[in-house]
Amino acid sequence: MASPKKGSQLAIIGAGSVGSAIAFACLMRSVVSELLINDFNEKICEGQVLDLQDAAFVSATKVKVATLRQCGEADIIVITAGARQRPGETRDALVLRNEEILKGVLEGMQPIKKTAILVLVANPVNILTCMAQKMSGLPTHQVIGTGTLLDSVRLRVALKQHLHVSERSIHAYIVGDHGDKQVAVWSSAHVGGKPLLAFEKLQGIDLDEEAKKVANKAYSIIDLKGATSFGIAAVVSEIALSITLNRLTISPLSTYSERFDACLSFPVSLGTNGVDTIVYPDMDEKELALVEASAKTTREACAKYTK
Ligand code: LAC
Repeated sequence: MASPKKGSQLAIIGAGSVGSAIAFACLMRSVVSELLINDFNEKICEGQVLDLQDAAFVSATKVKVATLRQCGEADIIVITAGARQRPGETRDALVLRNEEILKGVLEGMQPIKKTAILVLVANPVNILTCMAQKMSGLPTHQVIGTGTLLDSVRLRVALKQHLHVSERSIHAYIVGDHGDKQVAVWSSAHVGGKPLLAFEKLQGIDLDEEAKKVANKAYSIIDLKGATSFGIAAVVSEIALSITLNRLTISPLSTYSERFDACLSFPVSLGTNGVDTIVYPDMDEKELALVEASAKTTREACAKYTK
């Protein structure tokens, strides 16, 4: 079992299906020495914590209920609190409800620990990340969103079926929007140093169709079981490990991009201090135009937030 840094804390705001799955994933992987759980519904929160404590015997992590103020003192703060998508509803349609909730959460946590890393999970994730960058009081590189990491994982797992190569060795990114405007960057994707588009095993496969299935996967899961939870939970545990172990792993996450003057998801190296470097993949004209279109939408949506 990995031993987490002594005294390290990860707080999860929102103990619904997403927050509790994230807690379980971080618990199983002993990401930190203490998990703090907060939900405005105290009864649910207490129930989730008691249940998680039963699972903690296989972990090096303790779990406890915490106030928003206590969560503001954690090293990593994961915000899942928000309305969930109804079947067929887009992530963007959640914005008004979720910005109201985020405002309350950010205010309740103040003053947030200066070195904390804030990880936004609630949707629309780019817009909420931008809002938190403006309102949390933390430097921009310490405020990230889960962005298109889950979409990229979904794409890699789909490609694995054709390529027979581990998803971890498939360097294919979905960038931009974690939603309907997401862009699969095929032109510079590679596997073992060879351009992905040159693989014979992919000839005859409709890659745009594969990307469309990925973009629609959350809708399918929501139709079937009401919410997505395990995929995003695994993704957040990876992000948290990259932070605690200062791995500087490159993952596509919501971050402020000077180049596009918007908060969008791009590959970034992530460590204990937050985002270190943004690595823009080479994009062809069509991919770039799509990213620019989603940058415009996000920029306009975020214009109302001020520091
Ligand atoms: C999904 C949610 C996290 O794509 O937006 O599963």
